[in-house]
Amino acid sequence: MPADAPDDWLARAREVVRDATLGPRATHRGLVEEIGDGVARISGLLDVRLDEVLRFENGQVGFARVLDPDLIGAVMLDGATDVEAGDAVFGSGEVVQVPVGEGLLGRIVDPMGRPLDGGAPIEAGAHLPIERPAPGIIERDLVTEPVQTGIAVVDTLFALGRGQRELIVGDTATGRTTLAVDTLIAQRDSDIICIYVAIGQKTSSVRRAITALRTHADFARCIVLVASPADAPGLQWIAPYAGMTMAEYFRDRGQHALIVFDDLSKHAATHREIALLTEQSPGREAYPGDVFHIHARLLERAAKLSQARGGGSLTALPIAETDAGNLSAYIPTNLISITDGQIVLDSTLFHQGQKPAVDVGLSVSRVGGKTQAPLLREAAGSLRLDYAQFLELEVFTRFGGMPEGRVRTQLRRGERIREVLRQPQHRPLRLADEAALMIALRGGLMDGLAPEGVAAFRAALPGTLDHGASGALRMIAETGTLDTATRSALIAEMERLARSLAQAAE
Ligand SMILES: Nc1ncnc2c1ncn2[C@@H]1O[C@H](COP(=O)(O)OP(=O)(O)OP(=O)(O)O)[C@@H](O)[C@H]1O
Ligand SMILES: [Mg+2]
Repeated sequence: MPADAPDDWLARAREVVRDATLGPRATHRGLVEEIGDGVARISGLLDVRLDEVLRFENGQVGFARVLDPDLIGAVMLDGATDVEAGDAVFGSGEVVQVPVGEGLLGRIVDPMGRPLDGGAPIEAGAHLPIERPAPGIIERDLVTEPVQTGIAVVDTLFALGRGQRELIVGDTATGRTTLAVDTLIAQRDSDIICIYVAIGQKTSSVRRAITALRTHADFARCIVLVASPADAPGLQWIAPYAGMTMAEYFRDRGQHALIVFDDLSKHAATHREIALLTEQSPGREAYPGDVFHIHARLLERAAKLSQARGGGSLTALPIAETDAGNLSAYIPTNLISITDGQIVLDSTLFHQGQKPAVDVGLSVSRVGGKTQAPLLREAAGSLRLDYAQFLELEVFTRFGGMPEGRVRTQLRRGERIREVLRQPQHRPLRLADEAALMIALRGGLMDGLAPEGVAAFRAALPGTLDHGASGALRMIAETGTLDTATRSALIAEMERLARSLAQAAE
């Protein structure tokens, strides 16, 4: 008799019925009471955890954000157009997870790890929850290795270290995204893996950042995560946590990663929107009371791990937006107090053409200085002082006729410092370029040049070093210092460059 003859089929069916457990069974099932603006209020769902994934009757998903005894506030992860009041909802017992692993490198994904670049689905090594505990104090180490941002003003005055959290803050259109993206681009010369998280940013801005990364950075070592303003608020809300989880994968394997959150002001606004829709009590500026905590919890996960934990690091560059330069607004002050320093971008400087528009007086880096190469550290002290004095003198002498003597020298030096600290976008400098610039500045090699000459000097320097000072280049890259002979050779080479530029100008 053939295997699927009727008798056999009957026997198998009997077996299935015999083995089935009959009787009452508990499922976590609730009802949608209300839905709108990407937020659902659900009744009757017991035993739900914070951030637990909830499945709606029509297959859409959301997660629990607010747990009240009788009503759960859930945030949708999809557009949620088909969910209606009265629909059934089921708890899943799992928190929101995202794919992690090497498969994400070189990809553009949404906060759930779904590809946005038209490529194949992500081959994930594993899935991990978006909320994970930050490493404890014993698991951490001091920040001792530098992150080279390739931006002269940052590397000399506000150096960053691996594992540090540094806020980039400023008004809109002051070059915040550009500063962060340029830092990612500079990592093409390092072993740091880059993650760029765009939260609620304009499509044009995201596209510009992606193009810059694709053309200038080592894109095969970058992950771009995009939550657009049109996405469900839940998707925007999880974006920074999802990015952090993807970055932690590398940190925990002893590798080094750098993550940019562009920007957390938008994230705070999404958090406020969700909180107001779920009827949490509003506090200052209508943000709910936990807005400090959600960002502190996020940024605490950036860390330099101890040798016992593999020695990996995760550096975070959150971005925040100010209104008319007001750093004491709620979200900027929160983020300033959470991070290890801030780079303040100023719109007046930006409009004067001083780009990157870093406000040298208000910016600070509280940890990175220790990781700085000796050559830059030795330049930083006098540079900061000279520049600050120059800015003051400039104000006083603006209407006061032609200054004389020492004041005049200080003004000339200051103008050159300002010119040296300018930098076109997407053109990161190497440590050796920056160190050579500082040596040239302190040695007065550019004093004979007009401001345009200084710009030309800065632009021509990397090429000149490649050709005429490869010894110095190597020594700085390896040790961060120079011996006397190599330093003299470097200075001679730069003097030649300055002379030829001065002659060309005549
Ligand atoms: N160093 C620079 N040199 C030349 N142009 C720059 C530089 N930095 C920024 N820009 C230009 O300034 C404009 C604004 O920069 P960017 O988008 O980075 O600012 P933002 O503060 O992120 O603005 P948004 O508020 O739109 O997010 C861009 O067109 C960018 O190309
Ligand atoms: Mg921007």
